[in-house]
Amino acid sequence: MDLSNDWKFTRRDVLKLGAVSMSALAIPRIVAAPATEPAPPPVMAKVAMEVNGKPQALDLDTRTTLLDALREHMHLTGTKKGCDHGQCGACTVIVDGRRINSCLTLAVMHQDSKITTIEGLGTPEKMHPMQAAFVKHDGYQCGYCTPGQICSAVAVLDEIERDIPSHVTADLGKKAALSRMEVRERMSGNICRCGAYSNIHDAIADVAGGAA
Ligand code: FES
Ligand code: FES
Repeated sequence: MDLSNDWKFTRRDVLKLGAVSMSALAIPRIVAAPATEPAPPPVMAKVAMEVNGKPQALDLDTRTTLLDALREHMHLTGTKKGCDHGQCGACTVIVDGRRINSCLTLAVMHQDSKITTIEGLGTPEKMHPMQAAFVKHDGYQCGYCTPGQICSAVAVLDEIERDIPSHVTADLGKKAALSRMEVRERMSGNICRCGAYSNIHDAIADVAGGAA
């Protein structure tokens, strides 16, 4: 029996077959996605601290910054989040007598710390002298940077009082003078996008007795 007539392919048929098989190879394989692992639960820690004279006990994700603990867990929203990267000073608070950027530190690092925020400095009825001076000298426009500016300014006067030098203190053996340069240098971590700097300086100088 001669099968040769049943299996006749032209050159065109061969080319078509080749094209079909190549395109089949080009179709991407559908690979079953690997089962996704559920995210591990956050590591929690109990944190106790004193904020504005009141004890606070919190159960926090260990990744929580002090800024977020203040704003989101204690609802003390006077402390502002500006850059969240340690560059603007809007989040400045006073921790154990020193000013820090609360966005750059974890809440769990402040077990038993004493923290003062803008709410702890004074109230609208009984303002801290620095708050009153900012109002008197118009040391703000939009006010977003103001809580951080005021906390920093309070700490600056305390630093000078305690003989802590800055990068522009000329003589480390003497008490730093409250010069314009000293105030500028020490307040340089607090950015004001409204540019209220000269009035902020006047407010600080006023509280310091007008020396700068
Ligand atoms: Fe912390 Fe800007 S928000 S320095
Ligand atoms: Fe607006 Fe300082 S008052 S950013």
